[in-house]
Amino acid sequence: MAHAASSKSPQFSSRFAFIFAAVGAAVGLGNVWKFPYAAGENGGAAFVAVYLIGLVLVAAPIFVAEVVIGRRGAASPPEALRRQAVEHGKSKGWRIPGLFGLLAGLFVMSFYSVIAGWTLDYISFGARGMFSSFTAETASQHFDDLKASVPRLLFWQGLFILATLGIVAMGVKKGIERAVTVMTPALGVLLILLVIYALATGDAGRAIEYLFRPDFSKLTPDMALAAVGQAFFTLSVGIGGVMMYGAYLPKGASIFRASGMVVAADTAVALLAGLAVFPIVFANGLDPSGGPGLVFVTLPLAFSTMPGGDILGTLFFFFLFIAALTSAIALYEPVAAWLAERGISRIKGTVIAAFGSWLLGLLNIFSFNLWKDFSPLGFLPGLEGMTFFGLITNGLDKLILPIGALIISWFAGRLLARKAVMAELGVEGGLLFRFWIFSLRWITPVAVAILFLVNLI
Ligand code: PFF
Ligand code: NA
Repeated sequence: MAHAASSKSPQFSSRFAFIFAAVGAAVGLGNVWKFPYAAGENGGAAFVAVYLIGLVLVAAPIFVAEVVIGRRGAASPPEALRRQAVEHGKSKGWRIPGLFGLLAGLFVMSFYSVIAGWTLDYISFGARGMFSSFTAETASQHFDDLKASVPRLLFWQGLFILATLGIVAMGVKKGIERAVTVMTPALGVLLILLVIYALATGDAGRAIEYLFRPDFSKLTPDMALAAVGQAFFTLSVGIGGVMMYGAYLPKGASIFRASGMVVAADTAVALLAGLAVFPIVFANGLDPSGGPGLVFVTLPLAFSTMPGGDILGTLFFFFLFIAALTSAIALYEPVAAWLAERGISRIKGTVIAAFGSWLLGLLNIFSFNLWKDFSPLGFLPGLEGMTFFGLITNGLDKLILPIGALIISWFAGRLLARKAVMAELGVEGGLLFRFWIFSLRWITPVAVAILFLVNLI
């Protein structure tokens, strides 16, 4: 029985602990670092609009599906999939996509740890009072120097990986719960302050128009796929990380309600980040399509002119670091849990995950310096000029996460018995449930298929 093992698996102490942990896993670099630069690289409001539509129609339903699969399965993602497939008379080969999900998580961590390392570098500079000396030029220079220095990148990436390893090795309650309950709300408060400052002192009008007045003639298949991919990435769905948290969600808690709060919080943080960044971009004549360095150049500029900017800037990057940490936990935890089911100690399992992601991380570090002109798949059309970093980030958003979403939507929408799913959700039908099932059965597969097809052509 699927539920037989649930008494043995660890649990969060309450629904709120789950919500905080899931918000912590969702809110991270994807919101503050990636959302603004992805919007900027893809022309602004049209991207934002497709992202929001994708979020509601596809990514949020997949989030709910992962929680359902995870809590019913009460185990690591591969094991949760296998158990429930067998329970429904299907192949135990269903654990294989779960295993690929674990691997994909290590690929996410491979660049996540590098970018999170940048926040550590900025904390160390902010703490020495450096932000107040920045001009548009020196802020860019500082960022370019950081990217060019292999030792600095290695140092901070390693530190971030060690911090994540430490928390995951300590276990669910002691490590994860404690870390997330304080820091995520604090990041939100600081972000609101930044938005107020950016809107008051920057080019608010242009920023708002840029983010919220879509020009759908700018809509391209590639951009639409990137926007939907961003919706998956930001909610951490498509690779089983949310399943893992679902397995720790107490039985009575409402999955729809908890998921709704996570999606709302995550979306709010992304939009706030956009509103904090773009007024400053336009006021300083920076390039909105400036790429991965966007927030690492614009926000320090805001701190350079703001009263108390050194302190606020340092705090901001500290909270962003914590937000990244609480997301990164969700990348090691499924690997550690799966290995633990195989009799490998939690500490050993976490070390294995950490080492794997560290090694893959080197590909990303070198993408910014030694190999910045090296495109491993540059002979393929459309991939010219892409570094390992470009391939990994784009490959996840535009290929791996959508495929993961397809598999999950099939599993929860078609393979699991409708009765079993309703029992897990605590509903007996209703509009929300019908929309959710419809999304899994039809909207997700059709949308992903169309996006894949038009991009191939
Ligand atoms: N959702 C995280 C963010 O927005 O920063 C990134 C992420 C974490 C993606 C964990 C996937 C994952 F499993
Ligand atoms: Na996010």
